[in-house]
Amino acid sequence: MFLPTIKKVDIKDLNTKKLPKHIAIIMDGNGRWAKQKGLIRAIGHQNGTKSVRETVEACAELGIENLTLYAFSTENWNRPKLEVDTLMKLLVSSLKKEIKTLQENNIKLSAIGNLKTLPSKVNKELSDVIKSTENNNRMTLTLALSYGSREELLNTVKEISIKVKNNIISTENIDESIINEHLYTQNLPDVDLLIRTSGEQRISNFLLWQIAYAELYFTKILWPDFTKQHLYDAISEYQKRERRFGKTSEQIS
Ligand code: FPP
Repeated sequence: MFLPTIKKVDIKDLNTKKLPKHIAIIMDGNGRWAKQKGLIRAIGHQNGTKSVRETVEACAELGIENLTLYAFSTENWNRPKLEVDTLMKLLVSSLKKEIKTLQENNIKLSAIGNLKTLPSKVNKELSDVIKSTENNNRMTLTLALSYGSREELLNTVKEISIKVKNNIISTENIDESIINEHLYTQNLPDVDLLIRTSGEQRISNFLLWQIAYAELYFTKILWPDFTKQHLYDAISEYQKRERRFGKTSEQIS
């Protein structure tokens, strides 16, 4: 029996009028990629930065307005100290290396998460890049660092409670927009397409509120192997889905 040839999605086949406005990615599989090659996990993360670069470039070329990457979760602090240190060093060196490219390509860098828990070196580099790219407007690249969605929601509840206590907001006026304004992602639209690499089919405490109506796309590709082609495949699949937002098919068409 012959399997039909799987046609590669060409960038030209994508419908530029139906692009997701916000893509979020759970970059998973760096460790397994390294293990498969008999290498240490740090090399997996190092190669993961190449996929970050390629994905940012592909999104900017396509005209995606927002890209959010899950780079370090609140739970990742529980990894061996050596691995945490390696990831932090990689962040600093990547930020140093990429600042020029971000500027040249008019990309604004932003960060979400419990940033005060990051080492001062990371925070310093991060705020430098955020400051120097703040007026860029082609695309917003958001790094989720020391990020956990439950922590973000807890923080939101606390901030709103304080405002209620101080009579800045009344309980009756709390609605979805008030919650949105207090999330770390306050200036970002909801996620349209969530991609997770490495074959795992979990959300892992990422943007729980913001993905309420996102299309989920899981691929077995390990993050260091993720290329522009894989991104086009994900967007092509997204464009085939009917997003009904609770309505009927007839209402949509
Ligand atoms: C998950 O793979 C990946 C991470 C926890 C870190 C992601 C970091 C990078 C891609 C590099 C730095 C990022 C930027 C933005 C410059 P894993 O280690 O959980 O893989 P495994 O599940 O195979 O063990």
